[in-house]
Amino acid sequence: MKNFKTQFCEQTGIDFPMIMAPMFLVSNEAMIKAAIRNGIMGVFPSLNYRNEGELKSVLSELKKYISGNKYTGNYGVNLIVQQTNVLYKKHLAICLEEQVPFFITSLGNPKEVIEGAHAYGGKVYCDVTNMEHARKCATLGADGFIAVCSGAGGHAGPHPATVLIPVLRKEFPNIPVVMAGGIADGQGMLAAFSLGAAGVSIGTRFIACDEAAVSDEYKQAIIEAGIDDIVMTERLSGTPCSVINTDYVKRIGLKQNLVEKWLNKNATTRKWFKILTQLRGMKKLSKAIQPGNYQSIWSAGQSSALISSSASCDVIIAQLKSETNTAFEKLHTLFN
Ligand SMILES: Cc1cc2nc3c(=O)[nH]c(=O)nc-3n(C[C@H](O)[C@H](O)[C@H](O)COP(=O)(O)O)c2cc1C
Repeated sequence: MKNFKTQFCEQTGIDFPMIMAPMFLVSNEAMIKAAIRNGIMGVFPSLNYRNEGELKSVLSELKKYISGNKYTGNYGVNLIVQQTNVLYKKHLAICLEEQVPFFITSLGNPKEVIEGAHAYGGKVYCDVTNMEHARKCATLGADGFIAVCSGAGGHAGPHPATVLIPVLRKEFPNIPVVMAGGIADGQGMLAAFSLGAAGVSIGTRFIACDEAAVSDEYKQAIIEAGIDDIVMTERLSGTPCSVINTDYVKRIGLKQNLVEKWLNKNATTRKWFKILTQLRGMKKLSKAIQPGNYQSIWSAGQSSALISSSASCDVIIAQLKSETNTAFEKLHTLFN
């Protein structure tokens, strides 16, 4: 097996440049432990642990897991650094106290996370979908970018990877870029490396894993979804988010209504309406992942079209690594 180590691996001490991406309501401790023991980076959203004491407890559990073993993977936390995340300050304080080794920041201004993590040697990668935000993060001292490209699960960016990654590399040659969006096999990973990415961040592939505590209906819907079955909806958080186009999604439509749009834009109502919309969206998603729920609004990216089975995280990660190796070896034969 070829050694695929990159600058991202050097910065974070991992063996293989892959992130098991943070996924609201999906990522859990068992999945992150699998990432750690398989030499990759496992990241979970702090918002998956909203009850008092939960975040601290999972962080100390992961610290124990990693320190008692010779694993070559690592773990990190995803923080939504936006005013609408009412738990942000509290979660940041807990993460810094526990000296979380790696962070992914989404939205907003990552200044406090970068300063706090750098004080003990932690690394911070910032989600970026455009150059304006990338420039801000670079100025603040981000250690790397997660290029959230079109087709990604969650809040996908507008740009294709083939453009966003080279453009980021050109303007910031010293900042490693991890590609997120549309990767669910080794060929996709090799494509990311060929564009100049120092790693890949994979979400949707890991929804259909044995460890994810979401309903079998949701996992099966990912296995069955084709490339045209993923749509962007504003009905969850106000910001377009990729979901499987189920009958329920078709019934409620993809756009906010006129009143919602106005409340979302108006200077006095914007902040509170956004918080309300996001809380409502979280509630909808939490219900939808339960077995037998008929309000099936399931978040997933276009890479669903590449997923045809559910398996344990150990198996999925081993498969992704070996496929990358095969794709690398096969590439030469293309040009004979
Ligand atoms: C169900 C789901 C939930 C997600 N939740 C979050 C989140 O809480 N925070 C975040 O930064 N990204 C979130 N994402 C985006 C992922 O971290 C990652 O960028 C994306 O899944 C990569 O694209 P892929 O799904 O095509 O692999 C989510 C994605 C999915 C599919």
